[in-house]
Amino acid sequence: MLFKKNNSSDINEDQIALVEYAQNRIRSKKRLFFHFSIMIIGFISMLTSNLIFEFKKDSILFEFPWSYWLCSTWFFLFFIHLFNVYVTNKFMGKKWEKNQMKKLVNKQQIKIAEIKTELEKEARIIAESQLFSQNSSRNTVTLIAAASENNIIGKDNKLIWRLSDDLKHFKELTKGHFVIMGRKTFESMPKALPNRTNVIITRKTDYKAENAIVVNSLEKALKVAENDNQPFVIGGGEIYKLSMEIADRIELTRVHTSIEGDTSFPEIDLEKWQEVKNEKRLKNEKNEYDFSFLRYDKIN
Ligand SMILES: NC(=O)c1ccc[n+]([C@@H]2O[C@H](COP(=O)([O-])OP(=O)(O)OC[C@H]3O[C@@H](n4cnc5c(N)ncnc54)[C@H](OP(=O)(O)O)[C@@H]3O)[C@@H](O)[C@H]2O)c1
Repeated sequence: MLFKKNNSSDINEDQIALVEYAQNRIRSKKRLFFHFSIMIIGFISMLTSNLIFEFKKDSILFEFPWSYWLCSTWFFLFFIHLFNVYVTNKFMGKKWEKNQMKKLVNKQQIKIAEIKTELEKEARIIAESQLFSQNSSRNTVTLIAAASENNIIGKDNKLIWRLSDDLKHFKELTKGHFVIMGRKTFESMPKALPNRTNVIITRKTDYKAENAIVVNSLEKALKVAENDNQPFVIGGGEIYKLSMEIADRIELTRVHTSIEGDTSFPEIDLEKWQEVKNEKRLKNEKNEYDFSFLRYDKIN
């Protein structure tokens, strides 16, 4: 039974394409079977007539009866037909090429849309931070942290959650800037953060760190970063505490859970800080908990 296109049916375009493809395959297989039947009849007739007439030429080329030559040529043509039906048309037909092309174009379009969104996001962040810097007389010292509902930020010198979107957010905000951190936070990372100028605060006078500037006070760290319009203080607990007074902005990822730990983020005094952004994200396979991107600006 042949399938007919019917606009009023609820079969979608993909299903129609599948049915049409199946119909074409059935037709080509039928033609192959027909070819095979005719070939067998042809073989029998030729071999019989060959036996009846016992026709033979003397030349080397015609060492075999003529019917053998015809049969082998026909069999070769049949083999090409068979190959076309089962290999060439099945795997590399025009339809297959078209489908592959369509899939590729779709993938590219999705990728382009993602890149566009990322670029727009980065441009927005840069514009916002430039606007903020223009409005303030000096650079914008920004604390960036992720803290649970009970203000916990770490345990045993490690991070305590897996929040892939928060890491992305951190990278986007801090890219190209100075990142100021305590010696313990630096040691909790495998190496200095790439594409950023790493500044480490320690009381040790002989402390050495690869790809990082070492200083022995917060004031010196800020001095080193004075030409950056937005240096970031990236932790940990001791350094956040030291920086609260001099900071202009807090980029806080509030992780919606209460958790145990040994390091915490200082309490945010809402008399001094105003929440200016609050974007909630739900947990998924890449983010262990629900969380919110919060931004606080210091009230002047
Ligand atoms: N969730 C987050 O957003 C986040 C971000 C960063 C870190 N963390 C977590 O926080 C924890 C680490 O924080 P932490 O409070 O233990 O350590 P930290 O703040 O990273 O570093 C403390 C060190 O900084 C130096 N320091 C502190 N005050 C100083 C001062 N006034 N002058 C000179 N140097 C000073 C000292 O280094 P010396 O001992 O060498 O003198 C001190 O031991 C880890 O668990 C980490 O995973 C979480």
